[in-house]
Formats: sequence, C-alpha cells, structure tokens
Amino acid sequence: MAGREMKRQLHLNLFIHGRGHHEASWRHPASSPLALTDIRYYQDLARRAEAGLFDSIFLADQLALGEDVDQAARTWLEPVTVLAAVAVSTSRIGMIATASTTYSEPFNLARQFASLDHISNGRVGWNIVTSWLASAAGNFGDKGQVSHADRYTRGEEFMAVVKALWDSWAEDAVIDDRCGGRYARADRIRRINHKGEHYQVAGPLNMPRCPQGRPVLVQAGSSDTGRRFAARHAEAVFTAHMEKSTAQAFYADLKELVAAEGRVPAQVLILPGLSPMIGATETEAQRLSREVNELSDPEVGRKRLSGRFGGHDFSDLPLDRPLSEDDFPKPAIVEAARSRTEVILNYVRRDRPTLRELLATLAGARGHFTFAGTPEQVADLIEDWFTDGAADGFNIMPPLLPSMLDVFNTQVIPLLQQRGLFRTAYEGKTLREHYGLAWPQSAFKGAALETV
Ligand SMILES: Cc1cc2nc3c(=O)[nH]c(=O)nc-3n(C[C@H](O)[C@H](O)[C@H](O)COP(=O)(O)O)c2cc1C
Repeated sequence: MAGREMKRQLHLNLFIHGRGHHEASWRHPASSPLALTDIRYYQDLARRAEAGLFDSIFLADQLALGEDVDQAARTWLEPVTVLAAVAVSTSRIGMIATASTTYSEPFNLARQFASLDHISNGRVGWNIVTSWLASAAGNFGDKGQVSHADRYTRGEEFMAVVKALWDSWAEDAVIDDRCGGRYARADRIRRINHKGEHYQVAGPLNMPRCPQGRPVLVQAGSSDTGRRFAARHAEAVFTAHMEKSTAQAFYADLKELVAAEGRVPAQVLILPGLSPMIGATETEAQRLSREVNELSDPEVGRKRLSGRFGGHDFSDLPLDRPLSEDDFPKPAIVEAARSRTEVILNYVRRDRPTLRELLATLAGARGHFTFAGTPEQVADLIEDWFTDGAADGFNIMPPLLPSMLDVFNTQVIPLLQQRGLFRTAYEGKTLREHYGLAWPQSAFKGAALETV
C-alpha cells in the first residue's frame, strides 16, 4: 500500500463440514436444504466464501464411516473430487483438501494435487494428515491401525517423495513448439529414484510442474510429533484450542520449532478453529446456541468421544457426575487423535464438567473454540487472538451452513476491514499469494532422464 504502512493481515479459511460444525446442524431449519452429496452445495459455499474474500476453503476427510451414521449427517463426497468441481466454479479463492499419508501412495497423491493446482490455476493446498480414525485401517488391508509414531515416520518419507515428484519437472521443461516439433526438454525432467523403507518410486511425475511449484502444504496434527512434523513441512497449520492461553502456548512453541528447523516463522501461518454463533444481541446468540444444542443427542457424542480415544468404552460413565482425568485413558497411550484428547483433558481438569456438559461442548465444534455473541464481540475476539500471539488468522467453522457464514460475511468481515485487519479485495491470484507465502525454490534435482 503506497504512502501508508500496511498492518499485518489476517487470514481466514472456511472449514466446510456437513451442514455446519454443530453436530445437530443438519436438523436445524437454518441449514442448507441440499443433500450432502449435491455438488451444488459445495460450489455455492465456495462462492459465498469467495464473495466474503476468504483466503481459502477447506474439506476434512475420514477414510471410514463413523458409527453414529443413524443420527449424524456427516457423509461427504471425496474431497479431491469436490475441489475439481469447486475449482471450475470459482476464480480467486484458495481450496484445501485433506488426504492421508498413511493410506495413499505418494505418486497418486502428488499427481492428484498437481492436477488440482493446474485445474485451479494455482489455488490448491493439501492438508496433510496421518489419519487418526482406527476403523480406517479395516478398509486398507486390515492389518490393524498403524501406531501414532509409525504413522508420522511413514509420513516423513512420504513427504520426501511427493516433494521430489513435484520438483521433477523444471519450470521451463515444456516448450510446446508446434513448428519445431518439440514438446518438452527431456533434460529438464528428472527421475527421483527414491528407495526407502516404505516407498520405492522412480518418478518423474507424468505431468508438468504445477502453477504454485508445489501445492501449499497444510498440516493439522498438534501432538509433539505432529508439531515437529509441521515445523519441517507446513506452510499453514490448523489447530484446535478451547482457551486462548493454550493457543498462545501452541503458537509460541510452533514458531520456535519452525525457527529451529532453519525456516522463517512468518512463513508458517497458524490458524486455530473458531466456531462463532452470531446474533444481533448476546442474548439472541445464546438463544440460538441453546436451540441447536437441544437438537443434539448425548449418545451420539458418547460414540464420537470413544472414537477420539481410539475406541475406549465410555458406556458406563454416568451423564451427570463431574468428570476427572481418571475417567479417561492417558493421551500418551492413545493411538488415535492424540492432541485432541489433550484438549479435552485440559478442559476436564480446568472446568470439571459432567459428561453431559462435556458432550454438549464438544457437539459445538469437536474441541475447537466456540463462541456466542454479537458481530462486534466476534471481531474483538479475532483481533485479540491475532494481536496477542495466539493466531495468524482463523479456521472459521460456522455452526450452521450457510446461514452463519452469511452473517459472518456481512457483519463481521466489514468490522475487520474497518480495523484494517482484512483485505477489501483480492490482490493475488494464487493461494500462495493470499497466504503471503514464498514461492518454493525450483529444487530441480534427481537423476537425469534417459528416455521419456
Ligand atoms: C482443523 C483440523 C482438521 C483436521 N482434519 C482431519 C481430517 O480431515 N482427517 C484426519 O484424519 N485428521 C484430521 N485432523 C487431525 C490431525 O490431522 C491428526 O491426524 C490427529 O490429530 C492425530 O495427530 P496428532 O496427535 O499429532 O494431533 C484435523 C485436525 C484439525 C485441528
């Protein structure tokens, strides 16, 4: 901005999940009437988010059907496929899909995300997950769940392979010279010849280098091992916190780990989840929250809680006695969503909720920060976390979709813009530009290609 200094800018990602992040959103009249398998639902949400100038949208993914399907509408389309459709119905917004390092082959994944980056003209990000859901293992050979530590070890090798594949074409490899009869320069395309413990991949990728060089790398595991993984690879990090103080501690720790890896801390954006129920008055927002809460069933929550703790049986736990940490397995032995179990136990230690209260809280946004208030209060909270060392932006998780996204767009975003914290128009065209990320160095390396 010429003449005056630009304030540090917020980054906003829309996390699309069912008909909203509240577990009972699918039943509420303010949520979309479209089927969750109707592509128009996702295209419409992405267009609304683009109208609000969000940096990106994001789709999570699980590789098995949950056990609560009779009462929870969380069936979703496969995210990579959805993004291809969203890419051609939007023009500026970034888009991030989740895919698993445990249950994919690096060559397939590198190819899919490079394709999406071409289709969207450089707007794609990959949310790297190791897949915490134990039942996913049953769909991939049924050898039992790979342990938390082994998932990350395998993930590390996976990253080396996909990065090498994305770098296997130099930017100038394609000539497409019709008159001269030469399509590509084989000396600018390299094999990768990776031979590791888990993967053997010759390469090169069978597709030219993608518009962003590599898709933006996003990561969402917050355990100790997850943080170190993020510090090495991530350019944006999604994380769940129920209090500002743990978000601040996470922020400080991760930025330090990034610096220790020799990377620039400002080049790794930290985006905690925020699920705001917004009303014209605080009372109205709280009334709406109660209304949605009353539609949820604690027994659905009990099954989900069990899933988070790797299948631990909570069926004998009474609903109305205050909980203590002895009611739960220790996070260190949980092979599933370890960092989320720590979030839950922090809350139990601090507030001593009953199981009913815990499940009602988790129904809101599964352990992310929930808040009911006016647009000003939501903008204040965002500004406070952003300026007080807790966030570089937010993973916005509307409890009801699309209605709470619309309220956020029309009432919260203008406040953030007035405060000089958020863009008033897209300046860049790619997700890297929206996020303010450097272009990956053209790390063109590997053995030369003898024949194509
Ligand atoms: C916002 C957010 C979204 C996530 N989305 C997924 C997902 O779609 N699929 C998945 O398997 N894990 C997802 N996770 C979980 C983590 O990626 C991670 O696999 C899990 O928490 C276990 O790793 P950890 O113990 O290091 O956190 C998500 C986490 C967060 C904070």
